[in-house]
Parts: sequence; structure tokens; C-alpha cells
Amino acid sequence: NVYPEILSLRMVKSEEEIEHIRSAIAKTNIALNKLVYTMKPGLYEYELADMFEFTGREKGKSNLAFNTIVGAGINSTCLHYPTQDCKIKEGDIVLFDLGLRDSLYCADISRTYPVNGQFSQIQKKIYEAVLNCNKAVIAYIREGLTIADLQEFACSFLKNECVRLKLIDPSEDIRKYYIHNVSHHLGLDTHDISDRKLPLRKGNVITVEPGLYFPEYQCGVRIEDDVLVTSGRAEVLSDFIIKEISDIEKLLKRK
Ligand code: GLY
Ligand code: MN
Ligand code: MN
Repeated sequence: NVYPEILSLRMVKSEEEIEHIRSAIAKTNIALNKLVYTMKPGLYEYELADMFEFTGREKGKSNLAFNTIVGAGINSTCLHYPTQDCKIKEGDIVLFDLGLRDSLYCADISRTYPVNGQFSQIQKKIYEAVLNCNKAVIAYIREGLTIADLQEFACSFLKNECVRLKLIDPSEDIRKYYIHNVSHHLGLDTHDISDRKLPLRKGNVITVEPGLYFPEYQCGVRIEDDVLVTSGRAEVLSDFIIKEISDIEKLLKRK
């Protein structure tokens, strides 16, 4: 049984593998930008998803790392929303979770942008909580921690943020609004094979993807970056894909 050998080879990426992941993220960014410049109320979610797939095609073939998720308004609160058949409305937040490949290696990126280029007050609050968590988890990553440690950290961080921003009552369970895990390994598969009990080590590439989902506000936000574990601070391989509120509002105003 060679599985344990393959597992440890795949969990620690070589320089060459990391270059392929960087390049997959760069391609994903180009195609995502196209969506951002195109999106407007009245378009259907599938029109954006199709454009992403079309832009990413290579040698006549689809080059998707996984089925593209585009969820507007209430659909942003549905995890792995598959249907993409709704019209994007004025004032909607649009959640994109998408990725392309480079030489089989995957990117896995989520960004959430307001279709009008301006966050509403409540969308801004929810976004701020998720963004702060995304950055805090990235700063927390160290060799020796496990993905379960990152998840525990994310849960308690999101809970504190939601209470601070008066999004939830202190007695509420954050897992009602944060319905998935914060990280997985990334590589030849989007959810790459891994032993989640093994501590993180230099050369691992993982996602950081906190989210909050409030159907009552028709607002789900996920911000997902791809990061490289090093012997010091984690390196954010997707750090050029904008996520600050001011950058998003500035970019979308210029459309
Ligand atoms: N796109 C699937 C995930 O983020 O895990
Ligand atoms: Mn992911
Ligand atoms: Mn994703």
C-alpha cells in the first residue's frame, strides 16, 4: 500500500508545484476580474459562471479546478450553491468561489463583491467580520498547528466579531452562521489528499476561507485565500486579489 508515501509527497509541495499553484491563481485572478468588470444587475448568475469558464479554457478544453459558484443575494448564503439560475438584483451581494488550473494544479479563491460597487451597512458589517477573521487566521498559521486548531481559532474569532458588531447575541452558537471548515489542503485536487491530524509544515499549501451566512439579510460572505506554510509567517499566494472594502469600492466605481 503506497498511500502513506503518496500522501506525504503530495502534502509537501516542491518549488515547482508551488509555481504551478501561483500560476493557477494568476489565471484565476484574470478571469475573476473579467467577471467583476462585467457584473451588473439584470445579468443571470450563470452568465458570469459561463464567462469564467470561457475565459479560463485552454486548448479548447475547460480548465476549471471545480464547478464555479456564483451566488447573488439570498443564494450567497447557500454553501456550494450549484444552480446559478437567478437574476442578479440591484443591491445584491455576489459570492464567487472559483478556480482554474495550471498544469493540473488548482487555485481555489472566494471573493464577495456588491453588484452596485457599494456595500450596504449590514453587508459591510458582515464583510468586515469575515475579512478580519481571514487575516487573523493567516497571521495565526504556524508550523506545528493542525487544521483543527485553525478551525477552533476561526470559530471563536468569528463569534467575538459577530457579538462585537451586534450581528448575533452572545448566547447564540456561531456554527448557525458559519457552516463549514476554515481550511483544506490544495494541490492536484482542490480538496487535496491530506491527513488532517498531521501538524502543518513548511511546503503545505492550504486555503483560508472563513464565511458568515445570514439568510435574514440575504447576505453570505466568504473570503478565501490560498497560502503557503513556511518556517515563519504564512505567505499569501493570492494576496494580489483585492479584498479590502475600500479597494473593492474604488475598483467597482471605476467600471
Ligand atoms: N470551492 C470549494 C471550497 O472552497 O472548498
Ligand atoms: Mn476551498
Ligand atoms: Mn473555494
